[in-house]
Amino acid sequence: MTSTAVPSAGLDPARRIVATRAVVDLGGDVGARMSDGPDPVEASRRYAELAATYERRVRLTSRWRPGVVRHLGLAPGDHVLDVGCGTGANLPHLVAAVGASGHVTGIDLSEAMATRARARVAENRWGNVDLVVGDAATAPLPATVDGALFFLVHDLVRSRPVVDRIVDACRPGARVVAFGPKWASRWAWPLNALVRRGVRPYVTTFEGLDTPWDLLERRLDQFSVRQLALGTLYLAEGSVAS
Ligand SMILES: C[S@@+](CC[C@H](N)C(=O)[O-])C[C@H]1O[C@@H](n2cnc3c(N)ncnc32)[C@H](O)[C@@H]1O
Repeated sequence: MTSTAVPSAGLDPARRIVATRAVVDLGGDVGARMSDGPDPVEASRRYAELAATYERRVRLTSRWRPGVVRHLGLAPGDHVLDVGCGTGANLPHLVAAVGASGHVTGIDLSEAMATRARARVAENRWGNVDLVVGDAATAPLPATVDGALFFLVHDLVRSRPVVDRIVDACRPGARVVAFGPKWASRWAWPLNALVRRGVRPYVTTFEGLDTPWDLLERRLDQFSVRQLALGTLYLAEGSVAS
């Protein structure tokens, strides 16, 4: 891993601490069962239950979304993939970045989450957004995209088949950006207790929560990671080899 300075577009240092709470939703847990690795069946069950309250629960993440999307370096006309798009909270920023001539494809396992994303697309009359409902490990993907976003999708960055498929769908030079929670240092156990409680409803595994980016790192060039919010969040980015 290279931990280099990353342009801090939208990632105002004053907001980093606030973001600890953004991920640490203290609103409780929906009978979360944990596995050794991502469990799409459990994720689907979980998000059917969470969909109605999801956006309210993670509302504090909204301040991070435009800045993280800027790290994709998208240009008008680009096609971008939102991996695990959920209710479509990143869609406004992605649509703005690719413009009317561009395209956004969101993929999500959960019909309940995708229904909300679909409503958002209809409400905004975005004719250039496609939503695919299915497991990102197997569902049809666009042939070539110019960028891919993994936002709060720990189960997806910890799935080797998903990471490999998404990177393979990217053109050479495309940027891939991941943002999400991580364990703080092992000495920061009070913080990590909050991370555990906050993250638990939204993931089916804690595997890899110390370095969630490492499956992406092995596939990307010019890779960098920035740790935020006392080490409880990360922003990882890199480019697909040319
Ligand atoms: C915490 S939500 C994040 C949603 C969105 N990216 C956001 O920023 O709000 C995680 C999403 O990942 C989706 N997900 C989990 N496993 C998946 C899989 N194998 N394939 C596709 N989507 C998956 C869930 O259905 C859920 O909508």
